[in-house]
Amino acid sequence: MRDGQDGRAGSGHAAFGVVGAGRIGGMLAGLARAQGHTVHLGGRQGPTCHVEDHGPVVVCTRNDALRDVVARTPPTRRRDLVFVQNGVLAPLLLQLGVPDATVGVLYVAVSARGDTPVPGAPSVFGGPHGATVAGVLAAGGVAAREARDSRDLREQVGTKWVWICATGVLGDALKVSVGELIERHEADLRALCAELAPVLAAHPDTDAPADLADQVVAYSRSVAHYRTAVKEWEWRDGAMLRAAALNGVAVPGYRAWLHRAGFGPAADAVR
Ligand SMILES: NC(=O)c1ccc[n+]([C@@H]2O[C@H](COP(=O)([O-])OP(=O)(O)OC[C@H]3O[C@@H](n4cnc5c(N)ncnc54)[C@H](OP(=O)(O)O)[C@@H]3O)[C@@H](O)[C@H]2O)c1
Repeated sequence: MRDGQDGRAGSGHAAFGVVGAGRIGGMLAGLARAQGHTVHLGGRQGPTCHVEDHGPVVVCTRNDALRDVVARTPPTRRRDLVFVQNGVLAPLLLQLGVPDATVGVLYVAVSARGDTPVPGAPSVFGGPHGATVAGVLAAGGVAAREARDSRDLREQVGTKWVWICATGVLGDALKVSVGELIERHEADLRALCAELAPVLAAHPDTDAPADLADQVVAYSRSVAHYRTAVKEWEWRDGAMLRAAALNGVAVPGYRAWLHRAGFGPAADAVR
């Protein structure tokens, strides 16, 4: 499927590729199209993009589809892939043979397909297509920037990971929206950030910024309507607990909140 300026297929020109036209993919395709880019949408079957084209191919599926998406991408185009999923993707990208692909950390919320995006902090992109994809978002009014360097990207990956884990478990345990969380339980959120920061520092693919808790609170404020929950265990909380255990970082407060949220057995299984 191709649309955009000229509708040519496979003509070897620049195209803005999107795989998975859900909430994020739909937003990106819409912004790119509005800015005059030729947009190529890759679906669930066949190659994800044209082998002859060039330009970013932003993968907007859930984490569990990444293996399939990479396998359906022509080998010569795999370096054009841009991954925006939550969690620490670097080990999987290495395993899939795309360690140099672009990675994006999204600080934007799109609640339903076609909804107006709610930007929080600038989304950050690092890799060969970082500037292009950040440029499309920023030109469309969704704050975004290119990562300054690899440490900056590792800090952003880590910050979003902690944001998801901390607000998810507190949201489930306390049954509150993110806005209510920072209004009434900011100290608990900050305490979790402090406890999880050493996990980020010890992980080879993340770093902990000095102002981790401030960034987590600031992003929470910008998406106050969100009701976060523990989800995608393997990529989020399960991965956090594994990284803590692997690096000898004790996280008793986080474990206690997971128990209170109903994830005690799953948490206890990771030691
Ligand atoms: N939504 C947000 O606010 C937000 C914010 C930050 C980060 N993210 C992250 O961004 C990613 C995308 O999220 P989303 O909210 O856009 O998800 P979504 O609305 O569920 O959309 C996922 C899309 O992927 C497609 N898909 C699933 N498996 C596929 C496969 N094997 N090959 C090709 N396409 C496939 C789905 O196709 P069908 O249409 O056929 O189901 C759907 O269009 C997730 O990792 C999410 O965690 C989302």
